[in-house]
Amino acid sequence: MAKKMNDQEIKDAVRKHYGGLVGRRAGPTGKVIGLDMTPEMVARARANARRAGLQNVEFRLGDAEKMPVDDASVDLVISNCVINLAPDKDRVFSEAFRVLKNGGRLMISDMVAEGLPDQLLEDRGAWCSCISGAMPEREYLGTIRRAGFSEVRVLARADLAPRFLGGAPDLKISSIRVGAVKTVAEDQSTICMSQKTVWRSQPRSQGAR
Ligand SMILES: C[S@@+](CC[C@H](N)C(=O)[O-])C[C@H]1O[C@@H](n2cnc3c(N)ncnc32)[C@H](O)[C@@H]1O
Repeated sequence: MAKKMNDQEIKDAVRKHYGGLVGRRAGPTGKVIGLDMTPEMVARARANARRAGLQNVEFRLGDAEKMPVDDASVDLVISNCVINLAPDKDRVFSEAFRVLKNGGRLMISDMVAEGLPDQLLEDRGAWCSCISGAMPEREYLGTIRRAGFSEVRVLARADLAPRFLGGAPDLKISSIRVGAVKTVAEDQSTICMSQKTVWRSQPRSQGAR
């Protein structure tokens, strides 16, 4: 039987697992941009990256609803348990779509919930605990598709056990991992360009006559 970890061992394992994980995975030629809307978290992340000796990570202060990141400039957008906190999830997914290159991927974990009682929906603490801002799963996936993503798939799901839900029969709270792809048809831009060329060439040839 596996030995149960004590608190210190759990903390060490979490540090080892998360410490600089993305920076190292990106490799020496890859680059990572971290985004958070609180100066405190950005300062902490910068200090952690310095301590871990990571040169290829950069942290930017900004809102996921208006990412300070160039159009079509990144290969992968990841997020763990953040988007439920954003009031305008449509905007967050539109921004993720905008900053991704064609063929780029979205890989996120987040909370989804159904049947939340009104008193929870009005509770700021419950919002900050990643509960009240959680959308029903169907709507959440619909929001990702509406932003333009394709191949939207739930890759993993963990449901909160009913004993934690206080006997509310319609309440369902889950954590899901979702993958999606930005695919823009290459010939869409070709069609636009050729239409422009045709349109331009007509007045010129008419004028020449
Ligand atoms: C629940 S934690 C995220 C957990 C973290 N991703 C992890 O894996 O441990 C919430 C963080 O998301 C940030 N956050 C929440 N809403 C945000 C938004 N709209 N834009 C940027 N950062 C946001 C908060 O400032 C906070 O640092």
